[in-house]
Amino acid sequence: MSRFVQVGRVEDVPPGARLHHEFEEDTVIVLNVGGEFYCIADLCTHDGGPLADGELHDHQIECPRHGACFDVRTGRVTRLPATEPIPTYRVRIEDGAIWVEEPELW
Ligand code: FES
Repeated sequence: MSRFVQVGRVEDVPPGARLHHEFEEDTVIVLNVGGEFYCIADLCTHDGGPLADGELHDHQIECPRHGACFDVRTGRVTRLPATEPIPTYRVRIEDGAIWVEEPELW
């Protein structure tokens, strides 16, 4: 069963902003896109680059290294050179707190 962890408060992540959270093994990015919150792994599937500083175009985040793009809603690749999707994690908002699904350890 998934475990959710509180990573921040809604008021600290206005639309267009993001926050990073480090789990034991993985770092994730929580993004506020137009008032909706999404959570993705901070790891590009092309060559392992971080996505943290990637530009956001609507719901697409662009990897700063070689320009691959991913849909933050699904993790789907929307532009090469990446070919594999990135992990996404569920987000819950409760009483102004942001909770994200903890990545599973393999
Ligand atoms: S590491 Fe992200 S596009 Fe190459």
